[in-house]
Amino acid sequence: MERILIVGASGQIGSELTLGLRSIYGNENVYATDVKEAPPDIKDKGPFQFLDVMDDKHLIHFVIRNKITQIYHLAAVLSGNAEKLPTQAWHINMNSLMNILEVAKLVDEVKKVFWPSSIAVFGKSTPRKNSPQLSVMEPSTVYGISKLAGERWCEYYHKRYDLDIRSLRYPGLISFKTEPGGGTTDWAVEIYYDAVKKGSYTCFIEAGRTMPMLFMHDAIQATVKLMETDRSKLTCHTSYNITGFSISPGQVADDIGRYIPGFKISYKPDFRNSIAESWPHSIDDSLFRADIDWKPVFDLKKITDVMVEEVRKKLLKITN
Ligand code: SER
Repeated sequence: MERILIVGASGQIGSELTLGLRSIYGNENVYATDVKEAPPDIKDKGPFQFLDVMDDKHLIHFVIRNKITQIYHLAAVLSGNAEKLPTQAWHINMNSLMNILEVAKLVDEVKKVFWPSSIAVFGKSTPRKNSPQLSVMEPSTVYGISKLAGERWCEYYHKRYDLDIRSLRYPGLISFKTEPGGGTTDWAVEIYYDAVKKGSYTCFIEAGRTMPMLFMHDAIQATVKLMETDRSKLTCHTSYNITGFSISPGQVADDIGRYIPGFKISYKPDFRNSIAESWPHSIDDSLFRADIDWKPVFDLKKITDVMVEEVRKKLLKITN
């Protein structure tokens, strides 16, 4: 019987992963936690509690008391926000991970940990097209540095303490349930909301800048599959590259035009465009696809179909 702790259950990934895991392991066995209020479908249908992952004593008590066997640690300060408060972001991103790794090491019942890394681990010296699993890595953002350091710590705990920790380097994640906050890839979600709400969008990334993306449905499938795969099949103990496809704001704007004729996009690149400039255009995730039998289902057209419809429904609910 698995008993799963989700740290960051109210966020963009957590709010969907919690529901996905509850449908597999049962509502009562997935403990959603966050420092923020959770959406009603998470709070009402299974356990939800306020838990600050920075409080290591509270964390270990929670894990022991609830006989937790798996931990998903999803809380982080994203790339754009991290640049505004670098030392605080470093403190939160690193110490929260260290608290989780220590708890997993100390509590025998905890058998597996999931922690997301990011394409932000790459930097300008990494080949930009099809960025390989193993490469030169010189991230230039606080977020990227913290994710790369985190990957090294995960591998250290795997080697030194035989901890089963699994990880994916997520690209930009596109979703409609919960909006991301403070990331460089947030434009790929904002564009759909503004298209439906206002028929126009001012993008903080330049028109032709191509970035790797993945639809949330595919990301959840990949994450669950990674966690369910037999440990002996995993050959990567830092973090696997993963991607869906690569797109630029100009391409998304054109595709939105299928639904919203006259949709207008204008460009006002800010500091996040410079962050994006240091990140890959596309990702080689062949190692992940070989170790885990997975491939994405959603391409840009399918995503636009779903996003426009779901954002419309959501906004209609709010206004009614
Ligand atoms: N979506 C993240 C960000 O933009 C990248 O992993 O910060």
